[in-house]
Parts: sequence; structure tokens; C-alpha cells
Amino acid sequence: MDKIPQHVAFIMDGNGRWAKKRFLPRVAGHVKGVSALKKIVDHCDAIGIKNVTVFAFGRENWNRPQSEVSFLMKLMLKKLNKELGELNSKKAQIHFIGDRTRINHEFAKCIEHAEQLTANNTGIIFNICVDYSGECDIIQAVNRIIQDKLELPVTEQIFAKYLLTSHSPNPELVIRTSGESRISNFMLWQLAYSEIYFCQTLWPDFTPIELNKALEWYNNRERRFGKISEQL
Ligand code: IPE
Ligand code: IPE
Ligand code: MG
Repeated sequence: MDKIPQHVAFIMDGNGRWAKKRFLPRVAGHVKGVSALKKIVDHCDAIGIKNVTVFAFGRENWNRPQSEVSFLMKLMLKKLNKELGELNSKKAQIHFIGDRTRINHEFAKCIEHAEQLTANNTGIIFNICVDYSGECDIIQAVNRIIQDKLELPVTEQIFAKYLLTSHSPNPELVIRTSGESRISNFMLWQLAYSEIYFCQTLWPDFTPIELNKALEWYNNRERRFGKISEQL
């Protein structure tokens, strides 16, 4: 593969349907989904993808039954505690992206600890979006720009520095699993020119082989950025 993107973002969708197909409770799909994620992050690291962002819990996901929300929160906390040592030893730099005010105190503390521990790491940048909304990301940037009384006009470059993902370049490739073709309020600004790969595979079944297929597809894309095709 010639081109390895610098940043790949994942909309990890289809956990519930994966479980339903097996007559299991939805949450069993989330457990399996977290295992799939670990293999994907390891693979990204191994092949030199420098930034990985995953949509783990969206702002709209608070609308799910309380039992599922609380299971998801506990699962994320448990997995973070379990994987932190290994991620740190692999020099991953962890960032949680989203609103921190509504998640529980213990999880918020653990997030803070993970970020501080890995802040100076020089390996893969691993962004985990929790209580994230692309609209809120833009609005919080606007509000902070106003607070900072920036000189006008504010350029795209300055604006991007105020987004929650300012430490990573915009993703060249976004992958959404499970056959849904929408963005669901994910990184609205940052996806301006991303290649978007939709696949039928449900997230718990998404493997490094599937990721390689997406990367092959990406390698065959001609990214024109408004110019005329070189093939014409
Ligand atoms: C994605 O899987 C995980 C989260 C949104 C937290 P879903 O839970 O949305 O699975 P489906 O779409 O119902 O199959
Ligand atoms: C998007 O998945 C959010 C995450 C993957 C965390 P959803 O399953 O919640 O999105 P919709 O409801 O299908 O748009
Ligand atoms: Mg879904």
C-alpha cells in the first residue's frame, strides 16, 4: 500500500445488531466491540497510522435506555483501567474528546489520569470520543474564541485550533461499519474532505483484514480537492 493515512476515524456501529443476530442481549455486542477495537488500534499502530479516533459514545446516545448507558460507561471505565498500562508502554498518547461534565466522577478521574500519564508519549495518538457531538465541538470553539476576544477575522486555521481535535490533523479516512450511510453528528468540521468508507460488517466483526480492505479502497481514491482529475 502506497498511502497510509495519517489519521483514520471510526464510527463503530452495529454492536446491538451483532448481539441480536446471536439472540444475545445488546450489551454483549458492546463487550465484543471493545475486543474488536483493541485489535484495530494495535493494527493501526503496527502499520504506521499515527492518529486513530473512535466514536465510542455520542451525545445522542444518552437517549438510550439508562441500563444500556450505564453498562457502556462501566465497560469503558473497566477497559480503560485494563488497557492503560499496555497502551502507555506502547507510547500511545490518549485523548478523550467530548463533554466531561455529564459522565460520572470515577470515569472522569480515570480519563484525567490516562491523559496525564500518556501526555508526553510519542507513539500513536488515540482519540476516544465520549459524549461527543460535532455540533457541540463547533459551538464550544465559537464560545472560546469569543471569550478569548480574538482579533477578527478568525480564519479556518485559527478556528481549527479551538476544536477538541486540534492536536490531530483532519482524518483522511473515516470508516463506518454496519451499513448505515450517515455521519451521526461526528466531527462535522474535521470531515470536510475525508474519504468516507461505509461497509456492511458489524463493528464486532470488523478485523484488521477488513481494515486493510478499507485502506486498499482508500489507496484507489483520487483525492482531487476541487481540481480536475489527472486521469482525464
Ligand atoms: C455502536 O453500536 C455502539 C454505540 C453507539 C455505543 P450500536 O449500539 O449503535 O449498535 P446497533 O446500531 O444498534 O446495531
Ligand atoms: C453513532 O452510532 C454513534 C457511535 C458509534 C458512538 P448510533 O448507532 O448511535 O447512530 P444512529 O442512531 O444510527 O445515527
Ligand atoms: Mg447504531
